[in-house]
Amino acid sequence: MPSENNTPILQMQNICKTLSGKEILRSVSLDINRGELKVLIGPSGAGKSTFLQCINYLLIPEQGQIILEDTVVNPGVKKDLYNYRQQVGMIFQDFNLFDHLTALDNVAIALRKVKGMSKKQALEIARKELDRVGLSDKGDLYPAELSGGQKQRVAIARALAMEPKVLLLDEPTSALDPELVGEVLSVIRDLAKEGLTMIMATHQMDFARALADEIVFMQQGEIIERGSPAALLKEGSGTRTADFCNKLSDMCEELD
Ligand SMILES: Nc1ncnc2c1ncn2[C@@H]1O[C@H](COP(=O)(O)OP(=O)(O)OP(=O)(O)O)[C@@H](O)[C@H]1O
Ligand SMILES: [Mg+2]
Repeated sequence: MPSENNTPILQMQNICKTLSGKEILRSVSLDINRGELKVLIGPSGAGKSTFLQCINYLLIPEQGQIILEDTVVNPGVKKDLYNYRQQVGMIFQDFNLFDHLTALDNVAIALRKVKGMSKKQALEIARKELDRVGLSDKGDLYPAELSGGQKQRVAIARALAMEPKVLLLDEPTSALDPELVGEVLSVIRDLAKEGLTMIMATHQMDFARALADEIVFMQQGEIIERGSPAALLKEGSGTRTADFCNKLSDMCEELD
């Protein structure tokens, strides 16, 4: 609904994180509105993964706060944290599936354990979510029997089953063979078009250019540039983002 679109659904305010005595995030702030896709880019070691992990409270920031809708999250209270994590899902580079469970059970297990659903109800939703990512015929296979792209789509189905308000994705295609990247990006594209709110770290600049509402460029633990893809990636704009993007494509050409 247009009236809701300008309200931040999630606000990160002055997030600071130190790891092994090194300041990794230096007071990073970012808001995301309902239905937006923000793409985090930046050199290796910039702090993108650390930031996403802080947003999900897999890492607890030393300073700063996160506000989901109108509520300040208190990660020190187990119940609040548990609740929050159901609403802010996370997709990792390396899928994080349970190897001993089928695709269907990987999706159903959280619904049973976290949402307390019956087996029948959980399986019904799991089937629907697998269908949504184009895997309706793979439910009975184990992760070892799936391609990387299929595994990542199972991980996405599992996150979607929880009906998150925001989905965080940390380089969801970077562990995939090049020919499998497209199938995962196509699922994420559909989610963006359906209006799912997402923050995604990626080096897939064509995807970012086409779909991001905002590109957020991080370097050395800070956001140093942000704006629309049109503004930041414009030829000759002289932005850090355009420069980084050119370096990335030079690197890809060298690899070809
Ligand atoms: N557990 C840790 N202890 C100490 N330093 C860490 C730890 N985890 C990450 N770092 C450091 O934090 C910095 C940011 O790492 P992070 O993984 O967030 O970067 P990134 O932007 O995601 O990079 P990439 O593009 O390679 O994924 C790096 O300098 C890294 O070495
Ligand atoms: Mg990373």
